[in-house]
Amino acid sequence: MLLGLVLTGSLYSAFAPAQAGSAESNDALVAEGRELFLVSCAFCHGKNGEGVVTVNGTQYGPPLAGVGAAAVDFQVATGRMPMAQPGQQSAVKARIFDEEETAALAAYVATFGPGPAVPNESDYSLEGMSDADREEAISRGGQIFLTNCTACHNFGGNGGAMPRGGQAPSILNTTPEHIYEAMLTGPGNMDSFSNGNISPEEKRDVIAYIETIRNQPEYGGFGLGGLGPVSEGLFGWVVGIGGLVGFAIWIAAHTTRTTKQPSKGADA
Ligand code: HEC
Ligand code: HEC
Repeated sequence: MLLGLVLTGSLYSAFAPAQAGSAESNDALVAEGRELFLVSCAFCHGKNGEGVVTVNGTQYGPPLAGVGAAAVDFQVATGRMPMAQPGQQSAVKARIFDEEETAALAAYVATFGPGPAVPNESDYSLEGMSDADREEAISRGGQIFLTNCTACHNFGGNGGAMPRGGQAPSILNTTPEHIYEAMLTGPGNMDSFSNGNISPEEKRDVIAYIETIRNQPEYGGFGLGGLGPVSEGLFGWVVGIGGLVGFAIWIAAHTTRTTKQPSKGADA
């Protein structure tokens, strides 16, 4: 076991620097990122991303060593970070930093420890695939989506409620890059799906599937938000059965039988 550990350790250190990108060309970006980080992020995450713990043991911001450039790109580009106030769940706001600043922040945070890099387009695009392969990829992606994502994000990807007031957002307007990063880094209460868990090709397939449901027209007019069996069942009960009950009462109240006075002298 010890041998195994040593081997994984040395293999990891041999491969990890390759992920962090070539150091020299990065220097200027890292320096810029550090400036931005000290102003906007260090208050909660610490000057060196070590995390900040309050007196009563709660966290302003978690340590960022090893979260990688991908996590920063996701959090900053979707407007989650910088957080206004540590609270329940980071709110999605308009992004504050442009692409270049985001890349600088990501480069600086990546110096805290090796972590997943920002994916390139070739990681999440089906470009150059034959139609048959593409269809296969989409159906594979659908299977993976159904087993791993629908519990929180729903069948249609519209999102849903989470325990303790949290919310799994809709993923229908998320860019492929950010979907990839979300899987890789597991923001907030979402599980992270490492490449060992869902391989890079499978991630690409899941994204292809999400793109497909995003572009799907809603059949049958009113989609009820596409929330699935629960909302549809509720609608069926309240509006369908409720309507029938109401109609039955209406019939009972308006028949000639109930309104007609029994005629005098006639046997009832
Ligand atoms: C345990 C519940 C859970 C599971 C399972 C889950 N997610 Fe999430 N997901 C979340 C939550 C909660 C957030 C919001 C996190 C935050 O805002 O900090 C989220 C956020 C996201 C986002 C960002 C959406 C946006 O633009 O705001 C994407 C994309 C996403 N998830 C994709 C996926 C995919 C793909 C899977 C399956 C491989 C998956 N999630 C599985 C709970 C989950
Ligand atoms: C007000 C405090 C606050 C500020 C300011 C802030 N953060 Fe955060 N950050 C948090 C908290 C709290 C979390 C954990 C919340 C969550 O995971 O949803 C977090 C999570 C993150 C994560 C995800 C970590 C992970 O494990 O995946 C990244 C990356 C991040 N912050 C980067 C930044 C960057 C970059 C900035 C500056 C532009 C910043 N944060 C500013 C409080 C803050």
